[in-house]
Amino acid sequence: MTQSEVLADQIAYYRARAGEYDQWWFRTGRYDRGAEFNAQWHAETAAVEEALGSWLAARRPMHVLELACGTGLFTRLLAPRVERLTAVDASPEVIAINRARVGADNVEYHEADLFAWQPARRYDAVFFSFWLSHVPDERFAAFWGVVAAALAPGGAVYLIDSAFDPTSTAKDHVLPGREAGIVTRKLNDGREFRIVKVFYEPAALAAKLGPLGWKSNLAQTPRYFIYGEVTRAAD
Ligand SMILES: C[S@@+](CC[C@H](N)C(=O)[O-])C[C@H]1O[C@@H](n2cnc3c(N)ncnc32)[C@H](O)[C@@H]1O
Repeated sequence: MTQSEVLADQIAYYRARAGEYDQWWFRTGRYDRGAEFNAQWHAETAAVEEALGSWLAARRPMHVLELACGTGLFTRLLAPRVERLTAVDASPEVIAINRARVGADNVEYHEADLFAWQPARRYDAVFFSFWLSHVPDERFAAFWGVVAAALAPGGAVYLIDSAFDPTSTAKDHVLPGREAGIVTRKLNDGREFRIVKVFYEPAALAAKLGPLGWKSNLAQTPRYFIYGEVTRAAD
């Protein structure tokens, strides 16, 4: 598969997975890893949600852009805490679930392929969760160029993503080495798709963002997540 084909398969995967997507976050079905791992997961999801809440309370961004908003697991946390939220995703199926879940007048949804999208305005903050790991290395710099174009002077990025841990994904997913870059994902009905999955540790991501003009303040939970703020070094 070429990279373009993988990126098309990645969109197809999330469209087809929309109705079963949340099983991952809530550790049900194939993502149920047993009481001990589930408890650890839930403690860490609570920790990243709380950290995001603290960041929003401290930063108080008015108009926020959420990239790859998905079914709204984070849109539901952002919307009540900001004046306006613009949420972008390539999948009409996940946008429909997000809209039904969040049901907020201050959220505007856009269906778009982020690899062929440019912001029409600037925002006080840009947020993305579990999206950066789906950006191929070859498109990393261009993606951060889009983020820069979307950010008002003095604005900030907040990201959350996966740390490398085999118990994070479904029981029937094979997690190849950390460096693989492309993985196979399955749906509950067994259909298979190829997607991009790049794992970052906070220090390595900060080192990659530095030469692009970004300053990072990222942390990691014990097993599952990386999270934190990225700002322009020049601001
Ligand atoms: C891992 S999910 C993350 C969703 C959400 N941010 C969350 O934390 O639950 C990745 C999301 O990226 C979206 N996506 C995949 N490829 C995309 C693309 N090229 N442009 C825009 N969105 C894309 C999928 O539809 C899916 O909702």
